[in-house]
Amino acid sequence: MWKMARSERKPRAYLCRRFTENVEAALKQRYDLSVNENDRILSPDEVESRAQGAQVLFASATEQITESVLRRLSPTLRYVATLSVGYDHIDMHAARTLGIGVLHTPDVLSDACAEVAMMLMLNACRRAYEADRMVRSGNWTGWGPTQLLGIGLKGKRLVVFGMGRIGRQIAVRAQAFGMEIHYHNRRPLPAGQASGAIYHADLDEALLAADVLVIAAPGSPQLKGVINARRIALLPPRAILVNISRGDLVEDAALINALTAGRLFAAGLDVFANEPDIDARYRGLDNVFLSPHIGSATEETRDAMGWLLIDGLDALYQGRTPDNLLTPFHSRAYETTQ
Ligand code: DGY
Repeated sequence: MWKMARSERKPRAYLCRRFTENVEAALKQRYDLSVNENDRILSPDEVESRAQGAQVLFASATEQITESVLRRLSPTLRYVATLSVGYDHIDMHAARTLGIGVLHTPDVLSDACAEVAMMLMLNACRRAYEADRMVRSGNWTGWGPTQLLGIGLKGKRLVVFGMGRIGRQIAVRAQAFGMEIHYHNRRPLPAGQASGAIYHADLDEALLAADVLVIAAPGSPQLKGVINARRIALLPPRAILVNISRGDLVEDAALINALTAGRLFAAGLDVFANEPDIDARYRGLDNVFLSPHIGSATEETRDAMGWLLIDGLDALYQGRTPDNLLTPFHSRAYETTQ
């Protein structure tokens, strides 16, 4: 544990969502911690009023950390620590301008997220929602030669849109299923990291090759709606679309139309625009497998994410710069305000 500079008092911190028991216990040792006890998602106004006086704000992807939130909290706030790899919910420009450090949780969740990508891919290809429902409903009349025929992965072309840390873990797993890996990034990976995956500089060209498309690109305003009707039409007939990134990268109406028309075989979605109020039309489709944003939701991973934030903050308070600090280290020395 760090040595506190200038004062033995613990810094004040606000926890916007309930973290794992282990992580909360460690946070309470280090901080004078106020907690959003009932774990309800807070509006920006609520974060602003509840976190007054905090030096550290522990958030997650469910809180919109807007310029107004940062400005109102900036008299005391030193760090926002988000339990997510994505940081599209934080106004990074405002954080930089105000000298507030932002920490996130890369790497430790890559395996868990890749597992969920495979889960969605398999469930979509093998019609798992319909299969589960058939057994549960009591409507299963017995094995049938043409019952619930799906699509196999072996020999199919997987296009990973966003071949970062998570995308590469997806590729490793998909290779073990016998898939041919293609990807689109702004730049090709260094040769050692590509593991034989075929690079497409142009997203449209990549989509033409996608028997299965997995969207793993980071959420950002520039990518909003990037998978639109025109691009969905580029996918081969009966392709599968999987999204583990952010829901707003996909135009819901275009995807729903393509699924309804049978133009796409199926989709597997872990993320949605406007969570948790998803486009209700998804609920009525048999050929979409839905999960509630559980990419990193394993006990081990959520502990590891919490510890990455704790260790990063410990490092900062000891004058070191952790790898998971997004905004450049700033010069405001740590001081308690009490
Ligand atoms: C992430 O880590 O960004 C996940 O989507 C959870 O928010």
